[in-house]
Amino acid sequence: MVASSPADAMLHAPVFVHLRTYGCQMNVLDSEILRGLLAARGFVITADEQAADAVLFNTCSVRDMSERKVLGKLGMLTQARTRRPELVLGVLGCMAELNGDELLRRAPQLDFVCGTNQRQHVPDLLYQALCRRVAVAPVTRHNAAQLERLRLALNGHAPPEPQARIVIGLDAHSTVDERIAVRLQPWRAYVEIMRGCSNFCSYCVVPYARGPEVSRAADDIVAEVEQLVACGCRDVTLLGQNVNSYGKDHGEGSDAFPALLRRLDAIADLCWLRFVTSNPQDISDAMIGALAACKKVCPQIHFPLQSGSDRVLQRMHRRYRCADYLAHVARLRAAVPAMMFSSDFIVGFPGETDADFQATVVAMEQVRFASAFIFKYSPRPRTAAARDFPDDVPTAVKEARHQQLLALQNAHTLAHHQQQVGTRQLVLVDGPSKTNPAMLQGRSAQYFNIVFPGTAQLAGSFAEVCITHATPLTLYGEQLP
Ligand code: SAH
Ligand code: SF4
Ligand code: F3S
Repeated sequence: MVASSPADAMLHAPVFVHLRTYGCQMNVLDSEILRGLLAARGFVITADEQAADAVLFNTCSVRDMSERKVLGKLGMLTQARTRRPELVLGVLGCMAELNGDELLRRAPQLDFVCGTNQRQHVPDLLYQALCRRVAVAPVTRHNAAQLERLRLALNGHAPPEPQARIVIGLDAHSTVDERIAVRLQPWRAYVEIMRGCSNFCSYCVVPYARGPEVSRAADDIVAEVEQLVACGCRDVTLLGQNVNSYGKDHGEGSDAFPALLRRLDAIADLCWLRFVTSNPQDISDAMIGALAACKKVCPQIHFPLQSGSDRVLQRMHRRYRCADYLAHVARLRAAVPAMMFSSDFIVGFPGETDADFQATVVAMEQVRFASAFIFKYSPRPRTAAARDFPDDVPTAVKEARHQQLLALQNAHTLAHHQQQVGTRQLVLVDGPSKTNPAMLQGRSAQYFNIVFPGTAQLAGSFAEVCITHATPLTLYGEQLP
């Protein structure tokens, strides 16, 4: 709309929202859905925190460090509030779900909190917080114009209610259309196939932060993927804390997830299909059969082992032994020879001895993961491990084990990368490389990070690249004609 007077321009001035995301892919997807919901209600999403009228944090609680990062940043912004008293601060996601009330008590500078299963209420909560803050912020010479803009933008102009169309996620308040409007990389998408987790691994806060496992209907998932593909998506990653137990909460058997993979594999213009996370305790023959049969399912699996010691696995409430895990890896490799494995590991779990740790080293040597995330154990409130076991591995030992596994993993990653030198790789291009904008960056089917010279117009399309050299982080190559 063209403004006809300065007052009119103010009336239609947008309200800017900056949303910061911490944590796992679930949060990345929740943030995308939130941006869609907010945009549909008339808010303007900005990458510029300084220009924002509201800064929202989509938070993670999985380790103490994850929470401290958010609290540190929140403290900095609270100081910024002295200069901009109208700035609204909101905490969403796992920290809000677990500790929302306490956060509000301990950080009165927070305007609102909203837990993981309430995301559809964020636009309303934000709107109310903006109205409250405009009313209470003391007017200074610096913020008078900005306050007036907010006042005019909000006064009696509640953004319109969203229309419910195709349901995304598990609530009826967001739609694929809204989400598609804000996607920055239309060629890749996460799709939630289930929320929550009912596994209660003894160290893990996720079942408390996300609630029990709830699967979405397969028809809804297929409809969502079809719509994303119609809008140019080529690479879909299905999300769930344990995709192998998809459908079990509805009484379905272990073939529910493989059946879903087969349906999605049949979508014509979808090129690549991935999923995360696959818990070793629930992997089935039907699943392995589907991986071999579905040509679009990428030869890459995140398959977290956590520890190579059966004693530790048992205390972690992981329901497999290391030998079971290795047998699954062998069967997966037999079914899909190109399969690349990645894993998560926790070092310094309570009671972990040198022998336990050594068992993890041996398992890593046996599997030779393409990549792995290695974490130092962090006791989390409410979890069984924090309740039942003292955090007794000394910090220096945790640190030394962490460094040892990181070094081993780096060597394995580099070896995998070096094996790719001389091969041709199909790459879905994401755009200019972040570290060297003169080059393009993309991902292969096996999720290798590939960098090569090319023009930015290639973003979102496939390129064939011959790999010329490798580092622990990246494969470099030349585009083939
Ligand atoms: N659902 C996934 C994991 C989600 S959490 C799975 O079962 O594999 C991601 C990773 O964080 C976990 O795999 C684990 O390695 C790590 N993690 C979770 N809780 C932790 C804690 N208390 N301390 C250290 N690492 C933890
Ligand atoms: Fe946490 Fe275990 Fe659930 Fe994964 S499966 S989210 S590690 S409780
Ligand atoms: Fe963190 Fe919540 Fe994910 S605790 S790891 S953002 S589910």
